[in-house]
Amino acid sequence: DMKDAVAPLLLAWYDANARRLPWRSPPGTPAPEPYRVWLSEIMLQQTTVAAVIPYFERFTARWPTVAALAAAEDAELMSAWAGLGYYARARNLLACARAVTLRGGFPDDEAGLLELPGVGAYTAAAVAAIAFDRPATVVDGNVERVVARLFAVAEPMPAAKPALRRLAATLTPARRAGDFAQAMMDLGATICTSRSPSCLVCPIAAGCAARATGDPARFPVKAAK
Ligand code: ADE
Repeated sequence: DMKDAVAPLLLAWYDANARRLPWRSPPGTPAPEPYRVWLSEIMLQQTTVAAVIPYFERFTARWPTVAALAAAEDAELMSAWAGLGYYARARNLLACARAVTLRGGFPDDEAGLLELPGVGAYTAAAVAAIAFDRPATVVDGNVERVVARLFAVAEPMPAAKPALRRLAATLTPARRAGDFAQAMMDLGATICTSRSPSCLVCPIAAGCAARATGDPARFPVKAAK
């Protein structure tokens, strides 16, 4: 089955090509701390990787653990956050850091993570997969685009979102789901880009239905205006 080949091919590609980002640990080394995964994933919502990097470095230098962050003053945190935007995220950040510290650490599964303040389906799946190696499916815009192309999903966006999520789940491996998710993100960010996908260097081009149509950039299909 083509689906079973996707994760091994992507993981091999990721082992050789993963972007070295400060919240990641290199492939083959122990998973990053849940604190660093959680903090980065909150920052990366609605903010680009390039913009997040210096903020992530400053935050983790100043508050190296979730308990340190929990002890911060509101005003300190808000001024460190200044420039990242969406300030509700910063307020939730402190509430979540305090809740995690009170309970003695991050929950290690998706359901437990979902109960934390400011942690929605996306963040819960990302922390469960990346920090705890749970087989959770992480779906962001890059992942949606890769999946829509791989299966040449004809249904337009945003109606196709639930179908794309189900398809993404069928690709998620039982182990290394966190690396798999980040491989999908990296593929979407660097190769399977919105405007000009580089199919010639794509590790999963052979199984890609959108590539077979000759016009991969048509996917995901946009709703008629
Ligand atoms: N965007 C959101 N989460 C990310 C991650 N873990 N790596 C790269 N880009 C991301």
